[in-house]
Amino acid sequence: MEIELKWIDTEEPLFEKVKTHRWINLLQPLGMPFDYIEGPNDRHPNSFHLVALRDDKVVGSCSLISVEGSDRAKFYQMSVKKEFRGKGIGKKILLEVISTLKEKKKIKTKNKLFEKKINVLFCNGIQFAIGFYERLNFKKVGEVFVQGGYEHYKMEYDLNL
Ligand SMILES: CC(C)(COP(=O)(O)OP(=O)(O)OC[C@H]1O[C@@H](n2cnc3c(N)ncnc32)[C@H](O)[C@@H]1OP(=O)(O)O)[C@@H](O)C(=O)NCCC(=O)NCCS
Repeated sequence: MEIELKWIDTEEPLFEKVKTHRWINLLQPLGMPFDYIEGPNDRHPNSFHLVALRDDKVVGSCSLISVEGSDRAKFYQMSVKKEFRGKGIGKKILLEVISTLKEKKKIKTKNKLFEKKINVLFCNGIQFAIGFYERLNFKKVGEVFVQGGYEHYKMEYDLNL
């Protein structure tokens, strides 16, 4: 399946479509409030958004933010459109994030540039998606915790391995 991956920032019109995608495919099914469609991290100078497009339509996305003053970056709001799950799109998105950081490629969007050295990539993984992250060699770190009413684990990937 032909999937195009594109890094964007919040000033680009495509970000509005990413928000709609997040709402339909991640937040609403989990019963989250509509305000979560955009969070404080989204417009942070250190944040970037990776969009998966098929025929110019959003079929997946994930957001990335580097943690100020550290060598760590967090990804969040990872989601693939329901009808497109199980076709390797989530894996493609995450492998792009991993290879970008591992090979120290610059992330260049219309209005921003990312060129920090990151050693650890992590996320707060919801219980249903742990197997997906483990399949991509993320490791559980620490104890289970509850966020938004769902069990989560911190999942980490060492970019130097
Ligand atoms: C989790 C999610 C992003 C995975 O995306 P996807 O495109 O369906 O996953 P892929 O098809 O790329 O799967 C890659 C591999 O992970 C496996 N996998 C996918 N989802 C899995 C799951 N929930 N549990 C265990 N393994 C899983 C696949 O079988 C595949 O294995 P393979 O490489 O041996 O074939 C997607 O199911 C989704 O959007 N879920 C709802 C939102 C969500 O929960 N997001 C996570 C928030 S923390």
